[in-house]
Amino acid sequence: MSLLVADNIAVSFGGVKAVQDVSFTVNVGEVFSIVGPNGAGKTTIFNLISRIYDVDHGSIVFDGIDITKVPTHAIAELGIARTFQNTELFEQETVLKNMLIGCHIHRTSHLISELFFLPSVKRQELEMRRAVEEVIDLLDLQSYRDNVIGELPYGVRKMVEVARALCLRPKLLLLDEPSSGLNPEETEDLSFWLEDINEELGITVIMVEHDMNLVTQASDRILAMADGRTITIGEPEAVQNHPEVLRAYLGD
Ligand SMILES: Nc1ncnc2c1ncn2[C@@H]1O[C@H](COP(=O)(O)OP(=O)(O)OP(=O)(O)O)[C@@H](O)[C@H]1O
Ligand SMILES: [Mg+2]
Repeated sequence: MSLLVADNIAVSFGGVKAVQDVSFTVNVGEVFSIVGPNGAGKTTIFNLISRIYDVDHGSIVFDGIDITKVPTHAIAELGIARTFQNTELFEQETVLKNMLIGCHIHRTSHLISELFFLPSVKRQELEMRRAVEEVIDLLDLQSYRDNVIGELPYGVRKMVEVARALCLRPKLLLLDEPSSGLNPEETEDLSFWLEDINEELGITVIMVEHDMNLVTQASDRILAMADGRTITIGEPEAVQNHPEVLRAYLGD
């Protein structure tokens, strides 16, 4: 069953065709990766899915809903969470606070009930804290929970960003270069966490990634792009050995 269907999507900026008529389907439970050289259009695809940009044409259907025109804020509510290529956390706040902020989107209480602190609000607050604690445990972040982001090593920050996205309890998680800036040991940890996120939490993942070892090890299928276009889509081995993929990476 497909969770996300991108059909013939395209967007240009001025003269630059960042994404040109790309189509792909991501199945429920998959780890689907997007690879390609710098400027291939990978992050732009995430920005189209998360409604930061409008498509010029084509459609994106998520969980049966055409999201091509939904407002940006509705994306998280529908169950899509993402991390950014350059981490975007509140530097002066603690890990815990950053995660609680990430959770807030899921609250349905209104101002009036919050003012009177009705039982429903209290219940949501407790649920939110429980969700945060679960994610802290899952990603082994206990020892950092009260640290201010600005004082943490880069590798930990990247995991906090993943953790914050998970607090939304998404159906689909978009990870933009999760391993960039990580050392080999941290990258290996990341691959285990990815497996937990995918298998234990049952979250479908789309990952943009340059580390081909991580990609081939973690992905069910891969979309390879260059210059805004699809080169090929398929299982890791086939994509890795595709002549045009080799050419895009290595040159002629
Ligand atoms: N907001 C924008 N305004 C103008 N050009 C843009 C914008 N966003 C992306 N582009 C251009 O679109 C193309 C694709 O960019 P994109 O960021 O999607 O590449 P990428 O595959 O993520 O590359 P990288 O591996 O370097 O992150 C590039 O030429 C980029 O300069
Ligand atoms: Mg990018």
